[in-house]
Amino acid sequence: MANIGIIVGSVYGNAQNAAEEAETFLTNEGHDVQVHTDPDVDLLHDHDGFLVVTSTTGAGDVPPNLELFVADARDAMPLIPNKKFAVIGLGDSSYGESYCGAGKELFALFSELQGNAITDLVSIDAMETFAPEEDVLAWLGEHHTQF
Ligand SMILES: Cc1cc2nc3c(=O)[nH]c(=O)nc-3n(C[C@H](O)[C@H](O)[C@H](O)COP(=O)(O)O)c2cc1C
Repeated sequence: MANIGIIVGSVYGNAQNAAEEAETFLTNEGHDVQVHTDPDVDLLHDHDGFLVVTSTTGAGDVPPNLELFVADARDAMPLIPNKKFAVIGLGDSSYGESYCGAGKELFALFSELQGNAITDLVSIDAMETFAPEEDVLAWLGEHHTQF
């Protein structure tokens, strides 16, 4: 089982709630899990794998609680070769071009840090579901052993 850091980006709590449900699920499956809502880049050394669960705000923007993490990671570029990651983006396709912009940005960042993506960006559309945490749990049910 893996040591997984869950990195959350959330404004109104949807991604936060989904991340907490993911923590419970992954812990019950035997993983060692820690949720980070105010992440510091140093945590990239602390885990074997990363699950990013982030909403998008503004016009394709990263939630404020992840802004510093993204900026610091781009400055320091702490490489994470061999570490697995997945990014789940909560968004709303009615925003058009900026749909899941933050998820795309975090996926690009973890790729630049040389992490190993276990999947393409997983996008969850508020136009299609009122319960994003259920989609997150369904996805984890199929993929958590890949961490
Ligand atoms: C002010 C505002 C701006 C938003 N901008 C975007 C956007 O640019 N792209 C997108 O895909 N979703 C956008 N959304 C939708 C949110 O990402 C979506 O509702 C998500 O579930 C919110 O999760 P949270 O409660 O964790 O912040 C926006 C929502 C709000 C309220």
